[in-house]
Amino acid sequence: MSDEVDVKGRGSSTSPSFPATGPGPLPASGAAAASEAPLLSVRDLRMWFPITSGIILERHVGDVRAVDGVSFDILRGETLGLVGESGCGKSTTGRAILRLYRPTGGSVIFDGVEMTRLEDQSLRRMRRRMQMIFQDPYASLDPRMTVGGIVGEPLAIHGIGSNRERRERVAELLDVVGLNPNFLNRYPHEFSGGQRQRIGVARALAVNPELIVADEPVSALDVSIQAQIINLLEKLQDEFHLTYLFIAHDLSVVRHVSDWIAVMYLGGIVELVRSRELYERPLHPYSVALLSAVPIPDPVVESRRRRIILTGDVPSPADPPSGCRFHTRCWLRSQLGSPDRCVAERPGLRALDGSHQVACHFAEDVDGSAEQVQVTGHPAGLRRTTES
Ligand SMILES: Nc1ncnc2c1ncn2[C@@H]1O[C@H](COP(=O)(O)OP(=O)(O)OP(=O)(O)O)[C@@H](O)[C@H]1O
Ligand code: SF4
Ligand SMILES: [Mg+2]
Repeated sequence: MSDEVDVKGRGSSTSPSFPATGPGPLPASGAAAASEAPLLSVRDLRMWFPITSGIILERHVGDVRAVDGVSFDILRGETLGLVGESGCGKSTTGRAILRLYRPTGGSVIFDGVEMTRLEDQSLRRMRRRMQMIFQDPYASLDPRMTVGGIVGEPLAIHGIGSNRERRERVAELLDVVGLNPNFLNRYPHEFSGGQRQRIGVARALAVNPELIVADEPVSALDVSIQAQIINLLEKLQDEFHLTYLFIAHDLSVVRHVSDWIAVMYLGGIVELVRSRELYERPLHPYSVALLSAVPIPDPVVESRRRRIILTGDVPSPADPPSGCRFHTRCWLRSQLGSPDRCVAERPGLRALDGSHQVACHFAEDVDGSAEQVQVTGHPAGLRRTTES
């Protein structure tokens, strides 16, 4: 029996053409009903890259554990922000979900279909429903191709529409992302960084995807342009009921776009929580440290804040620390007198107070701590809740 279940709705694999204008009738914008099955469900995802040695006889001597046990869900129409320092495995997670890599283990279920086992035609059909926006709009657009060629390429790859229909569709997409449809025959170097990222967004939208993995889509842009692209992505989400995995390395970027935030450290998720809750009550020592670098727009509160500087380098994913991967840099562990449990046992995500999930044996001690109060600017605290 095939792994694939019925591919429903827009972007149907059986449809040889795309809808003329946009993705057709959609529910009103906003989050999916709580009872609805997630559009994307990731469980214990692992992506290890083998390390080999020897020139003639290659020997497998280890693995770079870029992603090592990642789990989360995203409901249709919602955004999950995936945040963490450089090298923690964010892009690899996105790429493994889109099956640009074959995962080492775990499960990626997209609209009921197990993606990790798909091959050839079934994989191509499903890939059409998920697209990626890349970080660097300078490097990700082929300088030898016209804008028409770049944006229309996914349509050509999937054999969608005639040449004339594709050109019409590209002009329509340029209009949707706020570019002049007459720019079809221009080349990427004729555009600014922000305009290039709009071209990247148009390309991602070409085949009417449902899920978009936006891999640091504004990191390479000037701050003034970042807001424009984020606003565009939000507008498109409402208009086309898109679901986003939004990758960023700093918490200030994802704050306003995300419904949920997953904080990642060295191949694993350490905190998974509703966006607003994270900024009000971070419960993982690493999240607290990340948040301490995000300014608060209240000068009085901001003047009292102190940045938590993590000591030591980020360990290598080829040789991750035992137990809790954060134990070599954890300020809480130092305060607690270096308990052995942090070194001996890797903490899994556990729910504290409803849907707030944290991977720390001692997360209760973060709550109401001086560090938490300092970075949030107000005393929250699990002990003191629960708010209405
Ligand atoms: N193809 C590969 N082969 C071997 N190692 C890889 C490969 N791709 C990524 N890695 C390693 O996996 C780890 C995670 O990389 P990844 O690019 O996913 O991090 P990231 O969180 O996206 O970082 P950044 O914020 O810098 O983009 C890094 O140590 C990286 O060197
Ligand atoms: S389990 Fe221990 S080392 Fe890990 S975050 Fe919690 S206190 Fe720190
Ligand atoms: Mg990356």
